[in-house]
Amino acid sequence: MKSFDLNDVLLQWGDKEGRMDWTVGNAVEGVQIFGGIGSGKTSGSGRTLALKYLAAGFGGLVLTVKPDECEEWEKYCRLTGRSDDLIIVSPRHGNYFNFLEYESTSHKDGEQSLTENLVQVLKTVISAANDKSIGGGDDRFWETAQDMLLSNALDLCLLAEGRVTVKMLYDIVQDAPRPGRNVADPPQETRRNACLEALDKAFSRMPEWTAKYLRSAPDAVIEKLRSASDEEGKLFIRENAPEIRTYFFVEDFFRRTFRQVPEKTRSIIDFTFSGFLYGLLRDPVYSLFARHPCNFTPDDCFKGKIIIVDLPVKLYHKVGRDCQILMKYIWQRAMERRGKTGPDDRPVFLFADEAQNFLHEHDAMYQATARSSKIATLYISQNIPNYYASMGGFSPENRVKSFLGTLATKIFHANADTQTNQYASELIGLTEWRKDSSSQGVLSFSSEMAPAIRPEEFSKLKTGGSRNGMKTQAYVHVQSTLTDKNNNYLKATFSQEYAPTS
Ligand SMILES: Nc1ncnc2c1ncn2[C@@H]1O[C@H](COP(=O)(O)OP(=O)(O)OP(=O)(O)O)[C@@H](O)[C@H]1O
Ligand SMILES: [Mg+2]
Repeated sequence: MKSFDLNDVLLQWGDKEGRMDWTVGNAVEGVQIFGGIGSGKTSGSGRTLALKYLAAGFGGLVLTVKPDECEEWEKYCRLTGRSDDLIIVSPRHGNYFNFLEYESTSHKDGEQSLTENLVQVLKTVISAANDKSIGGGDDRFWETAQDMLLSNALDLCLLAEGRVTVKMLYDIVQDAPRPGRNVADPPQETRRNACLEALDKAFSRMPEWTAKYLRSAPDAVIEKLRSASDEEGKLFIRENAPEIRTYFFVEDFFRRTFRQVPEKTRSIIDFTFSGFLYGLLRDPVYSLFARHPCNFTPDDCFKGKIIIVDLPVKLYHKVGRDCQILMKYIWQRAMERRGKTGPDDRPVFLFADEAQNFLHEHDAMYQATARSSKIATLYISQNIPNYYASMGGFSPENRVKSFLGTLATKIFHANADTQTNQYASELIGLTEWRKDSSSQGVLSFSSEMAPAIRPEEFSKLKTGGSRNGMKTQAYVHVQSTLTDKNNNYLKATFSQEYAPTS
C-alpha cells in the first residue's frame, strides 16, 4: 500500500538566493496564491501545484469559475495518469450527489440530530451565497429568524414525511402563514397550502409516535401514566415523546411565532431562502444535487477520486456558485470527520481558482484542523480586497487576515494592488541592510532595518507568456520554514509549459 508521509518532498523551489524543500506537510497547511490579472497564477504556480498533488496520488475537489477549467483539469489528470479517478459533475456526465440523502444517511455527526446537521449546512451555504449588501443593520435579527425558519421547516418535513426534499422545503417556506390572516380560517386560496397540509399530516401521525413511545417506555413510566389522569397523561407524553414535543414546537412556530415577524424581515428571508432553494429546484442543479440518488460521495476522495464541479460560475452564475459552496462545505465536513490521520491515509486537496467566489464563514475554523486530517487547501485570488468584499459581515478586514493566517504557504505573483503588496512585504518582514557612506574621503558603515522585499518589488515580477520565455515569477513565504540561506521567503520561477518548477 502506498504511504503518504508528511515529510515527502513535493517540490524544491527557489534560486541561488535561497532554496527550500516543500513537503506534503506544507501542502496540508494550506496555500494561498495572489497575483494581478494575467500574472501567472493559474498557468504558473496553480498548475504546478495541481500537477504535483495529482502525481503524488492525492484525492480532491476542484471548484470552477471559468468555463475552460474542467478541460484543463482533465488534461492535468491525463498528464499524471489520473484520468480513471475523475468524477466530473456536470449535465454531460451521469454523476449525481444527492446532498440531502447524503447528509441524512451516510454519517452521524456526534450527538447532532439530522435537523441540526442540515441547518448548519444550509445556513452556511445560504449566508455565503447571499449578496452581502442585503440584510442591512438588523443582521442578527433576520439571521435568527431565518435559522428558526430553516430548522422548523426541516423538522416539519421529517415529521410529516419522514424525509426531507428540496421541493418540500421550498413549498413549506413559500406557504408558511403570513401575518394579518387568521390561520384558523379556512385558506382563502383554492390551491392547497403545503405548510398547513404538512402540519395536518404530522398531527395525524401523533398516535403512531405515542405508540412508539409507549413501546419503548420503561415500566415505571407506564405505571405512572396508568395512575395519571387523562390530561396529566397527555401532558406527560407530550413532554417526553420526542416527535410529539417537536410537533408542538413546530406548530407553534408556523401558526404563531413566524407570523409575527415583520413584513420587511419576512421578505428578506423569503428572498434569500426561497431564492436559494428555487435555484436548487431547477435543472441542471436539481438533477445533479437533489433528484437522483448519490452515485458518488465526498468520501470517495479518500480512495483517490478527484471531483470536479463543472458548473463554472461564469456560465451558471449564482446557482453555479451556490451549489459549489454547498459541495465545498459538505466535502470539508466529510474530510474533517476522518479525524487524525496516519502515514497510510491519503491526502486530499481542495482547489479553488478565483476562490473569493466560494468563501464561507467557517473556512478559517475548518482550516485549523486541516493538517491533522491531511486536507490540502489551495486558494487562488487576485488580491486581498477581493476577499474583503466577499467575506461581508462584521469587520471583514480582520476576519480575512485571520483566515489568511491559517494558510501557511503564500505565493505572491506580480501585482499592482497596493494592499496585497503591502501585506506581502510586511509578512516577509524587515531585514538588516548595510549602508556604506563616505564623507570627505572617509568610508563609514551603518545598518538600518528595512523591508526585505519592498511593496513595489511585487509589481516587477515576470508574468509569463512568450515574451518572458513562458516563465512566471513569485515570492513565496512559508510560515515557520526557512530556506537553506536562513530566509523566510524565496523567489520561485514557474514554467507555464506543464513542467515542474525550478
Ligand atoms: N499557453 C500559453 N501561451 C502563451 N501565453 C500564455 C499561455 N498560458 C498563459 N499565457 C500568458 O501568461 C500570462 C499568465 O496567465 P494566467 O492565466 O496564468 O494568469 P492569471 O494570473 O491566472 O490571471 P487571471 O487573474 O486573469 O486568472 C498571461 O499573460 C497569459 O496570456
Ligand atoms: Mg487565472
